[in-house]
Amino acid sequence: MPTRTQNRSSNRSSESADRNRSSQSRSAFSWSDNAGPILAAGLAGAAIGFAANYGRKALMQGMEAAAGDWDEILANEHDAALAVFDKMLATDETQTFKRKMLLMKLTHALDKHAHQEEMVVYPALREANEAGDADGLESEHGYIKTFIYELNQMQADSRNWLEKVREFRDLVAEHAHMEEEQVFPRFKSEMNEEQNDKITMLVNRDGFWMA
Ligand SMILES: [Fe+2]
Ligand SMILES: [Fe+2]
Repeated sequence: MPTRTQNRSSNRSSESADRNRSSQSRSAFSWSDNAGPILAAGLAGAAIGFAANYGRKALMQGMEAAAGDWDEILANEHDAALAVFDKMLATDETQTFKRKMLLMKLTHALDKHAHQEEMVVYPALREANEAGDADGLESEHGYIKTFIYELNQMQADSRNWLEKVREFRDLVAEHAHMEEEQVFPRFKSEMNEEQNDKITMLVNRDGFWMA
């Protein structure tokens, strides 16, 4: 049986084969003589940009992959998000730039995290006849996005900024607790090793493209 790392690398190599095929078919188009060098330079630039981004994603995902099974990856992401909240709560109203940067960081982290759950874990829960849990958790993600929306509407030096962040943190902490202590352990206990590996691979793959 292939290891998780082998699975991931074979997925990536087949994806890059697809890209190679599409770039070959693209080069079969007939371009005007003048367009050739410009087009080549453009494609080379795009390729460098793509490679840099791909390397960054691979690095981030490699760090995540070391964290273990899907539930451990997601629990580590909960901890990382709560740590950003704590940094936000340690700011004062003069630190508006820091507050905005931390809110951006938190938004990206929660967005990636929610995507992995909404595209992989919650659908798998519904498939296992646990739609009630999946729907309840997904609805809470909606309120998490509402907090982000509200904080983006607020001035970073508002008097109630910290209070809003504190309420937001409480919601995320409660949601994470429900996942880590109830829903995920129960779901995991119902899986065999193959199913568990599949969910881990899918969470990693989704996280890779969202990183
Ligand atoms: Fe969640
Ligand atoms: Fe979560």
